[in-house]
Amino acid sequence: MSLLMKTIARFASLSFLLLASVQLLQAQPNGFQYQLVKHAEYNKAAVSSAHPLASEAGMYVMQQGGNAVDAAIATQWALAVVYPTAGNIGGGGFMVAHLKGGKNVTIDYREMAPGKATENMYVDATTGKANTRLSQSGHLASGVPGTPAGLFASLKYAKLPMKKLIQPAIDLAEKGFVITEREANRLNNLQQQLERVNTSLPVFYREKKWQAGDTLIQTDLANTLKRIRDKGQAGFYEGETADLIVNEMERGGGIISKADLKNYKAIERTPVVFMYKGYEIISMPPPSSGGILIHQMLKMLENRPLASYGFQTAKSVQLITEVERRAYADRAEHLGDPDYYKVPMKGLVAPAYLQQRMADYDSTKASVSSNIKPGVIKESMETTHLSVMDTEGNAVSVTTTLNGGYGSKVVVGGAGFFLNNEMDDFSVQPGVPNMFGAIGGEANAIAPGKRMLSSMTPTVVLKNNKPFMVVGTPGGTTIITSVLQSIVNVVDYNMNAFDAVNKPKFHHQWQPDEVRVEKDFPLDVRKQLEAMGYKIVESGAWSATEMILVKPNGKLEVVGDKRGDDSVAGW
Ligand code: GLY
Repeated sequence: MSLLMKTIARFASLSFLLLASVQLLQAQPNGFQYQLVKHAEYNKAAVSSAHPLASEAGMYVMQQGGNAVDAAIATQWALAVVYPTAGNIGGGGFMVAHLKGGKNVTIDYREMAPGKATENMYVDATTGKANTRLSQSGHLASGVPGTPAGLFASLKYAKLPMKKLIQPAIDLAEKGFVITEREANRLNNLQQQLERVNTSLPVFYREKKWQAGDTLIQTDLANTLKRIRDKGQAGFYEGETADLIVNEMERGGGIISKADLKNYKAIERTPVVFMYKGYEIISMPPPSSGGILIHQMLKMLENRPLASYGFQTAKSVQLITEVERRAYADRAEHLGDPDYYKVPMKGLVAPAYLQQRMADYDSTKASVSSNIKPGVIKESMETTHLSVMDTEGNAVSVTTTLNGGYGSKVVVGGAGFFLNNEMDDFSVQPGVPNMFGAIGGEANAIAPGKRMLSSMTPTVVLKNNKPFMVVGTPGGTTIITSVLQSIVNVVDYNMNAFDAVNKPKFHHQWQPDEVRVEKDFPLDVRKQLEAMGYKIVESGAWSATEMILVKPNGKLEVVGDKRGDDSVAGW
């Protein structure tokens, strides 16, 4: 490793802020020469994602004639290589797009429970208690991956062949790339778990500590990606890759079968679309809870003078917290896979219902979650996000996930990719919290073929029928409140994208009954909230928001969250 490369990787690990205004034509991403660009302004097109090389892959294919969907696909393949903690082919996700002709598209490629899954598969027969260790790591934790099927379903809206879109990822896997300090730290923290759950030790495992500037070459993953390039979707869900996945399952006691893989389908869903203060919000419907909760929360806020309360004052934070509490109570009761459970989509966002939900709101004191029941309806952490806008007027928002960092921690032997631990996003037993502390019941109970409830909230916002903002973030259950606050920061508080993304976030999810705040959340506001009866819990950063915002002069302000190696590209 040359000193230059090490320097680049160390440099890349800094939260480096650069306001770039000029951008040369993008070459193919080079794993040994890259840097973080946190904040930039572009004239035509932009990508923001969790890794500079992935954003560059997206920009590269746009400059080869692709549109924003091409860029989103290429960025996602590249993330599967350069961001193994969450970028994935062994996980699932959602795409929300507003296309240049005005059509809104949402594609659901959430993982699904294997055919042999049962409602009580994690409940210990002797103790009667759920064993969440099994739903969170190891072979039994994985749902059937959806990401490859989702990227092929997205191709319908792209312009270039998949062979071109996947090639940058193949090259990065085959030739390698230098890892950042954050990635080195994450891999060092992973070693024991890799040893515990894997049937053969993967390339991510080594005795010596990983360091910034080390090269990661992923030959098995490159070969898997080549099979996908050469055989299409069947290169993952059938043939050699399917054999490798099923063999891995058999060695490690998992239950994903060849039939599960062959039968997996991405599904186009009807988007959640609603107006907030003159802006049109387009987001993801169930099996994500994101779109419905964003709809509920923004509508509960819409008729209250949030801006006049001031940004992150006790009054505004308290109001948003109470709105979040009520929406998350509904999430626990009413939301699940709509193909398996009748989610009361209309009832949950009916104006009269939402007004009644806030009827007991008291602006002087904290509500108590045990007194806030889910509404009665008469008729529903580690993830990664990418945002893209192109020169044609397409806006694409994609969030995908392995669930926890590096998913189940199981790497498919010979195929080189991590499998998800998404089964933990089901309600493994009524009232038992998942890894994000969320609880649920029948709506989100496990059933074969069912998709687990998600919080992923890829969102596009229109102003005057044109793309205005593309936004989304990882963060488990905090995703929805981070997206909510990012939108409110721009629409109500008139912030630019940089501040909207990087200002401290806070989060309430009904249960546990506490307000989580980031370290830099204002101390005086925290004290005032405590005096009103709120329990405040300080927590490390949880979001990694990627935002593109169209400025009044038509330029694109593009931001990669300061909290990670997120980075933007464009021209
Ligand atoms: N695995 C996080 C989510 O889908 O909400």
